[in-house]
Amino acid sequence: MDTIDNKDHDFKEFLPPGKIGSPICLLLVEDSPQHQHLIKNALLRGPLDISVTMADSGEKGLELLEKDRYDVILLNYSLPKMNGLEFLWSLKKRGITIPTIMITGHGNEQVAVQAMKMGIYDYVNKDGEYLTKLYLVIQRALERYELKIQQEELRQRTAYINKRLQQEKRKLENIISAIGAGLAIIDKNYQVIWSNRTMEEWFKTDHDLEGIPCYVLFKRGSKNCNKCTMRHTFETGGIQRVKHSLVNSEGERKHYQLTTTPLVDINGDVIQVLCLVQDITNQVGMQLKLIQAGKLAAIGELASGLAHQLNNPLVGILNYVQLMLRKIAPEDPNRELLDTVERGAKQCRDIVRNLLNFSRPHHFNFELLDVQTIITSTLVLIENTLKVGNIKIIRDINKALPPIEGNVTQIQQVFLNLLMNALHAMPQGGEIRISTDTIRDQEDQDYAVIKFVDSGPGIPKSIIDKIFDPFFTTKDKDQGTGLGLSIAYGIIKAHNGKIEVESDEGNGASFTVYFPIAISREND
Ligand SMILES: Nc1ncnc2c1ncn2[C@@H]1O[C@H](COP(=O)(O)OP(=O)(O)OP(=O)(O)O)[C@@H](O)[C@H]1O
Ligand SMILES: [Mg+2]
Repeated sequence: MDTIDNKDHDFKEFLPPGKIGSPICLLLVEDSPQHQHLIKNALLRGPLDISVTMADSGEKGLELLEKDRYDVILLNYSLPKMNGLEFLWSLKKRGITIPTIMITGHGNEQVAVQAMKMGIYDYVNKDGEYLTKLYLVIQRALERYELKIQQEELRQRTAYINKRLQQEKRKLENIISAIGAGLAIIDKNYQVIWSNRTMEEWFKTDHDLEGIPCYVLFKRGSKNCNKCTMRHTFETGGIQRVKHSLVNSEGERKHYQLTTTPLVDINGDVIQVLCLVQDITNQVGMQLKLIQAGKLAAIGELASGLAHQLNNPLVGILNYVQLMLRKIAPEDPNRELLDTVERGAKQCRDIVRNLLNFSRPHHFNFELLDVQTIITSTLVLIENTLKVGNIKIIRDINKALPPIEGNVTQIQQVFLNLLMNALHAMPQGGEIRISTDTIRDQEDQDYAVIKFVDSGPGIPKSIIDKIFDPFFTTKDKDQGTGLGLSIAYGIIKAHNGKIEVESDEGNGASFTVYFPIAISREND
């Protein structure tokens, strides 16, 4: 990155020679004593406040220039040893830029051109009237010199300001692209006339964003939106905020908040609209999760109340049916009816039991548990069922997990539900990969992570939000109650854990369960 001094630039070296109120210091390089005398007298008589120093050769002139500061040089061309052109060359070599006027007795065009090329300010022939005009020539040379200095100063200032502007521009661009939000300026034709890098990354199209109408950019539409926020800001000058969602080029649905702010001219008329675009997809996801959690909590309370109310009459029904079954003869034609009632009552009892588990799983005793052991014992439980269902289990368990705190029966129930769901999803057989890992979240809590990935058909996008809802099932009545995942959810919540589902329709389903790792009691 370029650096530049913040203090004002030092332009002193370009200040014109001499100080206001002090005489002009002139160095006269002239070998002829007669001309020295004439020139000096003419100048001292003239209107300029001037002091004249003599040098009778180029060498002497250079020597004086080393020692003192002069405002102007009057240089005779014909000098002994070093002529005027050689003197000019020496000035150039030494970097001396004092305005110099050349005088010559015998005008020579070639010399004049060469001297001009070497930067002299004027060229004067020693004709009859030159002495009377000399002060004018000097004055003009000094004025030109001053103008040149001013121009140089201006050029330097402009270069300095441009550099600062570029620096500020780069700084601003960095800030604008680092704010993590999209920014675009929309003109009165509803076209993007400028956008930052984030906008380009988020709203990639085949074309440049510049010139694209806002309704194409944000809505992939073909005409102005009915409730156009840009128009509203153009017409009212008010700030507008809207939310909308869009499927991006990677096929993901993204949620954005758009804030439109008017940009006004000096008359206060809105000429453009600045559009701030914030990605609120995570926020929306969190809101949905909160709604889901709230819904489940409410259903949990309802289920718990219902289960309590139903439990006692159900136990009564079951007891009495079983009593009657014991009393009637095996060949009694009513036995079949009673068997059906008993089956139904048992089914209801199981549902009620599940509902109670779902609503108050925290009533179980917690202890330190080894997750791998629970996975093994759960697999042993359904070993046969898996074999019959032609399900291959792949255990991808690399490292030992630290213990978690929980209830073994409950956690077994979670794993069992997930395995059974995968099994049901693959009636023709398939595989279930079980992997474990640990992860640390943003609050520095470590989790044991257990992932179940099956090779089944996956879960359609249209129902994935509903699978944790109690009684949501896609299975036949006798195959599922739709409580498996909601119970699993309740159990995991009671363990301060979480469960996530991912599924690409057609590519299997993946359920990831997180349980907080217990702080080892030995370390307490
Ligand atoms: N691995 C999976 N693959 C495909 N779909 C699944 C998978 N796991 C769950 N589902 C879907 O989620 C729904 C809800 O599952 P949940 O376990 O809550 O209920 P269920 O299995 O239908 O019934 P229950 O578990 O009470 O016997 C299932 O009906 C199924 O549509
Ligand atoms: Mg289930």
